[in-house]
Amino acid sequence: MKTILITGAGTGLGKELALAYAQEGNRIILVGRTRFFLEEVRTMIEKTDGSAISATCDIADSKSVEQLLSHLNEAEKIDQVINNAGVGYFGPLQEIPADRISHMIDTNVKGTIYVTKAILPTFLERNAGKIMNIISTAGLRGKVHETAYCASKFAIRGFTEALAKELANTSISVSGVYMGGMDTPFWDENHHVTDRSRLKSAKEVALDILERENEAELIIG
Ligand SMILES: NC(=O)c1ccc[n+]([C@@H]2O[C@H](COP(=O)([O-])OP(=O)(O)OC[C@H]3O[C@@H](n4cnc5c(N)ncnc54)[C@H](OP(=O)(O)O)[C@@H]3O)[C@@H](O)[C@H]2O)c1
Repeated sequence: MKTILITGAGTGLGKELALAYAQEGNRIILVGRTRFFLEEVRTMIEKTDGSAISATCDIADSKSVEQLLSHLNEAEKIDQVINNAGVGYFGPLQEIPADRISHMIDTNVKGTIYVTKAILPTFLERNAGKIMNIISTAGLRGKVHETAYCASKFAIRGFTEALAKELANTSISVSGVYMGGMDTPFWDENHHVTDRSRLKSAKEVALDILERENEAELIIG
């Protein structure tokens, strides 16, 4: 049994990853900002005799991340982190408000880096651990009306590749996951995707990830 911390675990892909990994007998630490959603997932996991705890945290706030991880590193032996939390703001660049760009970079880029940095000392101490970053095909190629979002995902691709090299002489693994569109609440508040029925389900993608979790670069078309 592994203990796996998943950010953005209350909805969408994070929720499906939490359910799928719990189903395999792992203990899940569910992290996100909205307690209600995290508790819903925790209850679902416990109903099937799985093991989970939840913790609210805004990953864009470095102090909150440090506090959470310092507590968790005392109480739990975390084996794996899945940096999944992310937000997306889309449209012609000139129409995306600066505060939304900031929020997206703070969450997608800095949040992922803060969580990884806070967990890394215990992984290094044990010379073990797995870091999986949920990126997007928007981290592989530029797309119309996704300028700032692509910038955030390219940044995390760079972070992932650089960290993998930095840790190459350790037993800590670092991987990046690049998937296309999924039908999740991610699309609830924007009109960037008009026909959600053509998108994959988050459950399908979560099961693909589980099956290929040992690959350093998972491209899920
Ligand atoms: N849906 C797609 O088509 C698609 C495609 C490729 C990649 N992705 C990526 O997949 C990941 C998961 O997205 P999703 O589609 O599952 O969307 P989602 O359902 O909106 O999930 C994102 C999760 O991140 C959490 N979150 C957002 N900001 C946070 C913060 N500052 N601190 C902590 N948690 C935060 C949200 O919960 P709270 O709001 O409660 O915090 C939410 O549960 C994202 O990184 C996204 O960029 C999505």
